[in-house]
Amino acid sequence: MGLIYLDYNATTPVKPAVLEALLPFYRQQFGNPSSIHWAGRQVRGAVEEARERVAALAGCEPVEVVFTSCGTEADNMAIKGVAAARRGEGNHIITSRVEHPAVINTCLALEQQGYDITWLEVDRHGLPALDELAAAITGRTLLISLMFANNETGTLSPVQEIASLAAERRVCFHCDAVQAFGKVPVNVREMGIGLAAISGHKLGAPKGVGALLVRTGTKLHPLLNGGSQERNRRAGTENVAGIVAFGKACELAGAGLADEAQRLATLRDRLERGVSERIPHTRVNGHPTERLPNTSNISFRDVAADSLLLNLDIAGVAVSSGSACASGTLKPSHVLAAMDLDPVYARGSVRFSLGAESTEEDVDRVLALLPPLVERLRNS
Ligand SMILES: Cc1ncc(COP(=O)(O)O)c(C=O)c1O
Repeated sequence: MGLIYLDYNATTPVKPAVLEALLPFYRQQFGNPSSIHWAGRQVRGAVEEARERVAALAGCEPVEVVFTSCGTEADNMAIKGVAAARRGEGNHIITSRVEHPAVINTCLALEQQGYDITWLEVDRHGLPALDELAAAITGRTLLISLMFANNETGTLSPVQEIASLAAERRVCFHCDAVQAFGKVPVNVREMGIGLAAISGHKLGAPKGVGALLVRTGTKLHPLLNGGSQERNRRAGTENVAGIVAFGKACELAGAGLADEAQRLATLRDRLERGVSERIPHTRVNGHPTERLPNTSNISFRDVAADSLLLNLDIAGVAVSSGSACASGTLKPSHVLAAMDLDPVYARGSVRFSLGAESTEEDVDRVLALLPPLVERLRNS
């Protein structure tokens, strides 16, 4: 039996056309894009072409794309960069309890330094209330940082409404779009997003490249001090091969976005329908409709997620658990806990995330494996 990978929200395999595009940049075109000689010029053009491709998928200008090493760096750059650049204007940042650790831990670090952080609560779908967001904004608020799509449940935020509110109150809006970018339309200009973090390895580029999209006019301090790369926004010699790959992955994602989203949503619905028909006491977490097309977070009552994950792994199926084992007790993830999910369900939550190479056969094999497995775990 072949292996089945249903953990595309963790990372994705590099797409063959992306690999083909990046390989020449390790040998033939190895120059440093800052060098003015032929070897540098060869690759400078490729970096700028990649920047245009990323900007085209993101709905921004190429000059607004700042390449980073990953989504985590982009989130750090956005939050710490705005906090430092606008320190004199206030010390307040608004975020939510369901953000990725890249945002949560960055805000916690700033809290240690004396910034005041508002942690918005969320409803049972994982969304903060807009009136609570509006009420939290004060004259000292520097930044709102809320995610586009939740990595565990796929719940999509009302990004445009958040952006309008932020604009009305003249507060900068940073959106962690790492999970959304390449899966659903993300258009920073049309949506009114000031800063957006994205990451290559979530859409078929290799690990080690990301970007922060910085709308022109945004005041931002750099995280790294050094050379003048990325228009003084991000020092350090560029990861040329990674950047070229990211550009190619954006081009591919943009060309097939709507069709691929439809295909994945059909597979996801097949999985969810199959589970609910075959296994009693299950529930799908996250927003019922406003959700990423590839993500299905399913709770199996009275099952320990890590046991289910382990048994699926033995059968060759890679999924991820929404729970973390801390000192022997299985704790539901901070996302599911914030959504106030009943613990008997929360501790048995598994995330299935589909992607480019997922097929109907993969889903059907998982649907055949799950019922006896869940029954055995419930009876053990
Ligand atoms: C929502 C979200 N933000 C940020 C990150 C971090 O991205 P990276 O792995 O590129 O650092 C992830 C990765 O899983 C994510 O899902």
